[in-house]
Amino acid sequence: MQAVQKLMKVFITRRIPPEGAKLLSQAGVCEVAQWDSDEPVPRAELLKGVKGAHGILCLLSDKIDAELLDAAGPNLKVISTLSVGFDHMAMDEIKKRGIRVGYTPDVLTDATAELTVALLLAAARRLPEGVEEVKNGGWSSWKPLWLCGYGLSGSTVGVVGLGRIGLAIAKRLKAFGVKRTLYSGRTAKAYAGEVGGEFVPLDTLVAESDFVVVSCSLTPDTKGMCDQAFFSKMKKTAVFVNSSRGTVVNQEDLYQALSTGQIAAAGLDVTTPEPLPTDHPLLTLKNCVVLPHIGSATYSTRGVMAELSARNLLGGLQGTDMPSELTF
Ligand code: NDP
Ligand code: DGY
Repeated sequence: MQAVQKLMKVFITRRIPPEGAKLLSQAGVCEVAQWDSDEPVPRAELLKGVKGAHGILCLLSDKIDAELLDAAGPNLKVISTLSVGFDHMAMDEIKKRGIRVGYTPDVLTDATAELTVALLLAAARRLPEGVEEVKNGGWSSWKPLWLCGYGLSGSTVGVVGLGRIGLAIAKRLKAFGVKRTLYSGRTAKAYAGEVGGEFVPLDTLVAESDFVVVSCSLTPDTKGMCDQAFFSKMKKTAVFVNSSRGTVVNQEDLYQALSTGQIAAAGLDVTTPEPLPTDHPLLTLKNCVVLPHIGSATYSTRGVMAELSARNLLGGLQGTDMPSELTF
């Protein structure tokens, strides 16, 4: 008689696209418990839910720290995050416990780059202000000096962090007639030639760019990197865009820079905290466009992310290859 294999326990911290959930239920190797809601799982429920789990499929809004790992206990083999960013995870604690980690690079690069370009254009060409004026009757006539902004043609773009997404943004911006592409980071990239990218110190990038686009990962080095000193070096006509993580920016300093005319405009897809409170000072500014962290939010991208995170989880559970394993 064949021995009945015990199913491994998996906890999914949110409702996810069906592509992912289906793969897990069809695999026949795990029993899945899920926080079946579009809203985040309360911390106490999360700690309860992961108890005894062999695998966790989490989101960027779930803090994966020592407390959670302790709550999960020694069964835990794999954590698969539905994101490319992994700054929500205490990697040192995870490594110490020999737990494998899956993430979702590449599959969201195009969607995020596209959204970043849309955000840049919205901030530079003042699209939300224009839409508002049409609705509130402020549009009285075609006026030569009304709602003018800044165009990309002939401009210099600075990309802070020319990684997968940074490169995809730079490629898209090239098509708008950008003259120079500068980038900064820890190391020069061989692939920067694809966009004629010039590796420069951050200060040079900030001072010479008409558009500063932040697409780096959040690390101890990049935390708070865009501060008063950073904004004070930017051109008064320059536009700042951030689609990486909110904490890379000192938001009080950004508010000062925008409200005093130190820089022209900003577009943010990410903030601290998320959601940004509706009474936050940045939301009072016409020259600041804030989006609710929707870089990867296309139906197909989210479906593929869910599928990839499920495959990563299954690989980790079964001790086989994970399609996108984070090595650290
Ligand atoms: P990559 O790892 O490919 O790129 C990250 C880049 O950050 C690298 O090129 C790295 O450059 C750079 N970087 C690291 N440290 C520094 C530093 N001190 N100064 C400047 N650059 C630095 O990741 P992705 O491009 O795939 O994703 C980037 C980030 O975008 C994610 O970590 C995530 O936070 C964010 N993201 C946001 C989304 C959204 O919805 N808004 C969607 C997807 C991702 P180097 O190697 O030279 O240090
Ligand atoms: C990520 O993947 O890190 C994004 O912030 C959400 O897609």
